[in-house]
Amino acid sequence: MSDKLDKEQRLLELRKACIEFFNGIYKDKQKILVFGEGNVDARMVLVGEAPGEQETIKQRPFVGQAGKNLDEFLDIVGINREDIYITNTVRFRPFKVNPKTGRTSNRPPRKEEIELCRPWLYKELGIIMPELVVSLGNTPLRVLADDKNISIGDVHGKPMDIKTGQDISFKLFPLYHPASIIYKRALKDVYIEDLNRLKEYLK
Ligand code: URA
Repeated sequence: MSDKLDKEQRLLELRKACIEFFNGIYKDKQKILVFGEGNVDARMVLVGEAPGEQETIKQRPFVGQAGKNLDEFLDIVGINREDIYITNTVRFRPFKVNPKTGRTSNRPPRKEEIELCRPWLYKELGIIMPELVVSLGNTPLRVLADDKNISIGDVHGKPMDIKTGQDISFKLFPLYHPASIIYKRALKDVYIEDLNRLKEYLK
């Protein structure tokens, strides 16, 4: 079996195991899971926070508004989406329901949700074995750096060496989450600067 097919097979098995695991955890309120996608041989993996509504409907990461922002970012760096692998820290959409309207909206993932998802991200990275992981925002940064106090404001654009307990090592390149640029326009220049740094780094 080629290395690529082997990775695809292992990812498929990982997904099956992950579905079984979360069906067991959330027996009454089963979650729709969204897995990573892209080039399994990619040298670079992008890790977001969690799927939103559109991602859950389509069961693909970064296909809603955040996906549009991500595509703009990939354009700046000169990367094709098909060439990389994209995944999330949390496998399902964290949402809340407005009791008056019954409408759902996104919320930040809870600590226990992040911890339940952590091993699945490590296992996924252990199959892809990227050289570089780009984290988007605080959630993937804290999981991948294994440091709950680290803050994107302090380390954005600064690559760091990561070695996980599972013997996976890679360079971590922390970026702000593309959605945070929409809420804080002042970050835009910093973000573009970080992207140019990443571009240089990839050369
Ligand atoms: N935000 C994320 O972090 N991931 C997605 O897949 C969509 C929005």
